[in-house]
Amino acid sequence: MRETVVGLSYEGRVAVVTGAGGGLGRAHALELARRGAMVVVNDLGASLSGDGTDDGPAALVVKEITAAGGTAVADTHSVATVEGGQAIIDTAIEAFGRVDVVVNNAGILRDKTFHNTGPDDVDPVLDVHLKGAFNVTRPAWIRFREQGYGRVIVTSSSAGFWGNFGQASYASAKLALVGLIKVLAQEGRKYNINANAIGPVAATRMTAGFDNPLNEFLDPGHASAVVAYLGHESCGLSGEILSVGGGRVARVFLGVTQGYLNPALSAEDVRDHLDQIFDDTNYATPGNSMDEVGILSSMLGR
Ligand code: NAI
Repeated sequence: MRETVVGLSYEGRVAVVTGAGGGLGRAHALELARRGAMVVVNDLGASLSGDGTDDGPAALVVKEITAAGGTAVADTHSVATVEGGQAIIDTAIEAFGRVDVVVNNAGILRDKTFHNTGPDDVDPVLDVHLKGAFNVTRPAWIRFREQGYGRVIVTSSSAGFWGNFGQASYASAKLALVGLIKVLAQEGRKYNINANAIGPVAATRMTAGFDNPLNEFLDPGHASAVVAYLGHESCGLSGEILSVGGGRVARVFLGVTQGYLNPALSAEDVRDHLDQIFDDTNYATPGNSMDEVGILSSMLGR
């Protein structure tokens, strides 16, 4: 028997979690199932670099969920192809008749310094992280629009927000996901579809190579608490980025300074007004690209 959760219930909801055979995805799948969601545990069982396949990890997590009285089904398609993404959503429909939440979590690493990074290191990373989010979210999105409800979560990273040595392909893919949710938040608004990003920090096999003195505090379950909030029907956030690790949750945002205005702007003006350009007093966090045009408009007195 599954325990009854007091608080944010997922009873009747269907969640797809990609890359849920281990690490963060496993924790998300267990947490959503604990809250009553019917879960598609997707994982093709790849190595950290994305090579190989193994049916085992997804099936094992399904076993864990059902042993705890929850409901889940395994799926081993790859997020990296359009057909794989469609098949993952088809699994949800065939098993549970609907889909409400997509947690794009699957990920791989091909870390190399930029001068050593060739196409073979870039394409697989973009295919899994960035195109993977398109491949899985698009077929779900079509249903979200029809049913007037949906929740999308993408897994971004501090490597994308702030940069990290040796992670050019990974960081690029991760920050691109922020652009994706910013647009999905706007396109989804009238259909009650929210799209948000998390930037987790957790001790998993992906971070095993990093010598982090805080590892013992970095339980993947902290990120799952944020996922369970963002994926819930009561959550009104959309287009937001939440950083989460070690029990700390914080908002990450893009801001723009008020800036310096000169209709006859020259390179010398830029050089001579860096203080004003970089002055972050009264910075703005535009909700869409027209909001920044609004700042210019008010500075121009229009
Ligand atoms: P992990 O390596 O334990 O989990 C990734 C999972 O994705 C693996 O189980 C793997 O088999 C699966 N996967 C890989 N390619 C796939 C594909 N094409 N289709 C379906 N599944 C596939 O690593 P972790 O740490 O749990 O990572 C989860 C996500 O969180 C990733 O997107 C990662 O980039 C992101 N992340 C993790 C951080 C951390 O501190 N652990 C920091 C920032 C982001």
